[in-house]
Amino acid sequence: MAMKKNITDIINKQINAELYSAYLYLSMANWCQSQNLSGFAHWFKVQAKEETNHGMKFYHHLEERSADIVLKGIDAPPARWNSVLAAFAEAYKHEQKVTSMIYDIVNLATKEGDHATVSMLKWFVDEQVEEEAQTLEIVNKLKMIGESKGSLLYLDKALAKREG
Ligand SMILES: [Fe+2]
Ligand SMILES: [Fe+2]
Repeated sequence: MAMKKNITDIINKQINAELYSAYLYLSMANWCQSQNLSGFAHWFKVQAKEETNHGMKFYHHLEERSADIVLKGIDAPPARWNSVLAAFAEAYKHEQKVTSMIYDIVNLATKEGDHATVSMLKWFVDEQVEEEAQTLEIVNKLKMIGESKGSLLYLDKALAKREG
């Protein structure tokens, strides 16, 4: 079944949003590295790679449906944060925003009776639950850590082990 223009448009917008997420997390990785926190930097680099994969999942969906793929410019992300907590708090806020964008696509695809798109989006709905949970956990740990440099370095070391 041919994909409707409004669904094609919103998925193209989501490809851009996922690649922006990758850019944002890469920028956070770069900033963490500049603070000598290579474990946090590693975590954000893995996250950036995941976001690129998300963009590709939407890309492949349009490709498989023979829908038009339109790539637009990606905005420049912020480059500096006041603390690791500030960076992770922003990452968490960003994930919540992405969740609401995914929900908007589910609502539109449901309204238009595009079951193939609704089915594809189920993976993203589940993925967002995980993304929000893991980011919030780090936010809460950083709040616990407060000004303790030793604890911050301990968490940095733990996050260096993230696979991907
Ligand atoms: Fe994503
Ligand atoms: Fe994400």
